[in-house]
Amino acid sequence: MIKATLHLHSKFQVGEVDDRIFGGFIEHLGRCVYNGIYEPGNRLSNEAGFRSDVLQALREMNVSVARYPGGNFASGYHWQDGIGPQSHRPTTRDLAWQSTEPNTFGTDEFLRYCRELNCEPMLCTNLGTGTPEEAMSWVEYCNSPTGTKFANLREENGNPSPYDVKLWCLGNEMDGPWQLGHVPVEEYVNRARQAAKMMKDCDPSIQTVACGSSGPQMPTFIDWDRTVIEQLGGLADYISLHRYVGHPGDDQEYLAISSSIDSQIETIDECARVASRKHRSGRRTYLCFDEWNVWYRARGGVYSDGRGQFAPPLLEEQYTFADALVVAMFLMSFIRHADSVKIANLAQLVNVIAPIFTNSDGLFKQTIFHAFRMISSRKGGTALQATLDCETYQSKEHGEVPFLDYACILDDDELKIFLLNRNIHESMEISIDSLDLDLQTASSSEILHHQDMTATNSFDDPNEVKSVEMNAWQIQNQATIELPAHSFVATTFKLQ
Ligand code: AHR
Repeated sequence: MIKATLHLHSKFQVGEVDDRIFGGFIEHLGRCVYNGIYEPGNRLSNEAGFRSDVLQALREMNVSVARYPGGNFASGYHWQDGIGPQSHRPTTRDLAWQSTEPNTFGTDEFLRYCRELNCEPMLCTNLGTGTPEEAMSWVEYCNSPTGTKFANLREENGNPSPYDVKLWCLGNEMDGPWQLGHVPVEEYVNRARQAAKMMKDCDPSIQTVACGSSGPQMPTFIDWDRTVIEQLGGLADYISLHRYVGHPGDDQEYLAISSSIDSQIETIDECARVASRKHRSGRRTYLCFDEWNVWYRARGGVYSDGRGQFAPPLLEEQYTFADALVVAMFLMSFIRHADSVKIANLAQLVNVIAPIFTNSDGLFKQTIFHAFRMISSRKGGTALQATLDCETYQSKEHGEVPFLDYACILDDDELKIFLLNRNIHESMEISIDSLDLDLQTASSSEILHHQDMTATNSFDDPNEVKSVEMNAWQIQNQATIELPAHSFVATTFKLQ
């Protein structure tokens, strides 16, 4: 057994953990919208056509923000196709996923969905094939009081009160050659500047998210981000980060991946801090990690080509227990970087690379659902910076990595601790040395563990991988727990 100690002090604070890091993503892609969240006529759907079982599961995940309508789909989407009487809406071709789009779910349906889910909407404008004016008129449709053209249209569609949508993405992955309307950075900056200016002129209270590069694997990484942040200045409140990770073939190596998530965040944050110093404005662009997940099996080829169908089964990744540990590591990294990461969206929410998987008779929760819920149910508070005493190992890709991954949140009279033993062979005794915090009892503690890293959930076996209560803490001078090899624990301590 290996040993690790986490030293904590209430004054070593990183920043407030923003609830919006527990966001998700709903794209018109495969069976995410149609037959995922929206299935009129199904016995499990409510009067609005929303699947009640899916809504319930998303509520359990505490989804705080929903990004919509894409993704790649957004770059060919014209929002006016998705409003008004459903029978009048056109059926269109979606070139991003080669699918047929009936537009029966659009802006009003999505914003109603967000209300039912009690989460904040985040709309992604089309800066691929759309115009800045089209983006601005969408803001008017959603946010302006009635009396002008698009606000009146909203009223005609049964929604007189403004929706007050605050979060707006200025396009999606515009650095990617796969993107409809993909452009070099200078051109993107021009488009985004024009769009953001008009959108903010229409409603100065909105916040915009500029497209960062599509991930650290891109040749555009850093230069694109730096240029966008520096040149958009105050017109971009956030810069987006995207990241999909895959299994390198070795579990120990897979569990080292969080080092590179930390490094991606810190690199883009450095760009933002440099720009802030250069502008001498004192304002800072924060990070919006608006697409992240594990995604490597159902990728490319047949998985991405809808062959002209309506709601084809695309990107239907089946997640393993190992993937759930990686999802926990993403969220722990966001918490450790609470001073810079303010929004994050798990991509996606239903069926498409998702924690929830449906058929017409019900759903099951994928392994990653449990990792997400264990952390999101302990949201709220200030992230603490800990000092770690722990053995390390050498990862091929990510250098020296400690066997323990962690995050801590201090919230009034509670301390929430997340611990992940990355060692795939040995258990770990972990001590919490909470210098000035008096840990009384662990009021709730649950573990996610499975002997088999490749274990999955399915309709036949929906609970093969799930979290269980595990309150094995010994509390004397320090709080101590023994964690099995490759396991993740989330605990809430009551403080004196
Ligand atoms: O989430 C799936 C796709 O991944 C999104 O549409 C796109 O933005 C990214 O490349």
